[in-house]
Amino acid sequence: MFDAAKFAESKVSELSALQGEGVIAVSGGVDSTVAALLVLRAVGPRLHCVFVDTGLLRKGEAGQAMENFAALGLSVKKVDASQRFFSALEGVGDPEAKRKIIGEAFIRVFEEEAKASGAQWLAQGTIAPDWLESGSGSRDNIKSHHNVGGLPEKFGLRLVEPLRDLYKDEVRLVGKALGLHEKFYNRQPFPGPGLAVRVLGEVTMEKVALAREACAIVEEELESAASRGECAKPWQYYAALLPVRSVGVQGDKRAYGWTVVVRAVDSGDALTATCSEIPHAVLKRISTRICNELKQSVNRVVFDLTDKPPGTIEWE
Ligand code: XMP
Repeated sequence: MFDAAKFAESKVSELSALQGEGVIAVSGGVDSTVAALLVLRAVGPRLHCVFVDTGLLRKGEAGQAMENFAALGLSVKKVDASQRFFSALEGVGDPEAKRKIIGEAFIRVFEEEAKASGAQWLAQGTIAPDWLESGSGSRDNIKSHHNVGGLPEKFGLRLVEPLRDLYKDEVRLVGKALGLHEKFYNRQPFPGPGLAVRVLGEVTMEKVALAREACAIVEEELESAASRGECAKPWQYYAALLPVRSVGVQGDKRAYGWTVVVRAVDSGDALTATCSEIPHAVLKRISTRICNELKQSVNRVVFDLTDKPPGTIEWE
């Protein structure tokens, strides 16, 4: 049985041996926040936290993240780099190429910040599925999760990964043991490359805006359905914009709009997942809202029934 409080205590004491200044990129997600809190407890203000706004975040996410950091006592520098990410992604449709470009753009932005901070080491919120699924040892490279690899060699900094051996549910328990609010440590995961992997194919600002609105609707509707007891809150739930246009009608006119897929899964460790059971009435509300609120662009909503395997949780 995993003892989160004991883990936190022994990690903090282990991390207390760190000398000099360190830096960490915090995304607002559970993994990097828990990693930052452990390191903060060990080294205090010698840890510099950087939040990079990639322009690929969810609705209201950057503001919310900065508020959460402040409430947790983490002092974080916010860097707005969205233009850089969109320019780098122009004309690129392949999922792995997108991940690579985002990873590299992230490294460049972060490297500038790390250098400016004078850090000698770099902390990261890498967890076990990140490196297991990025093709370590005999495993196949399913997806190159962008927070794995590359960073330390590029910076010449020592890498500190306090959560490397943990799975998501264990990280959440550590968050709870560190006093994080339930709403925060039970937050659903969000991929490092953000909405770029929820816009299938080429990423544009306009398409990201559609995926952002659709994701917000899925989150709002599923969370309020769960709070009313209509269904359990799925482990992860989102919408993605497919590169598929179909014919529909709007009023009495022909429409030719994009398709949004709604995905909701239950999982423990993200390595496998099952499609969540969502009542038809809830799905109908999601579909109606997406079609109404994104009327000019989206005219069809589908629900993904696939488990992992054979699917993955994200579509890219
Ligand atoms: P998949 O789609 O591989 O996702 O079944 C498993 C879990 O990982 C998240 N995910 C990512 N996280 N960088 C990340 O930090 C990535 O490139 C990435 N791709 C997928 C996904 O949201 C799910 O929780």
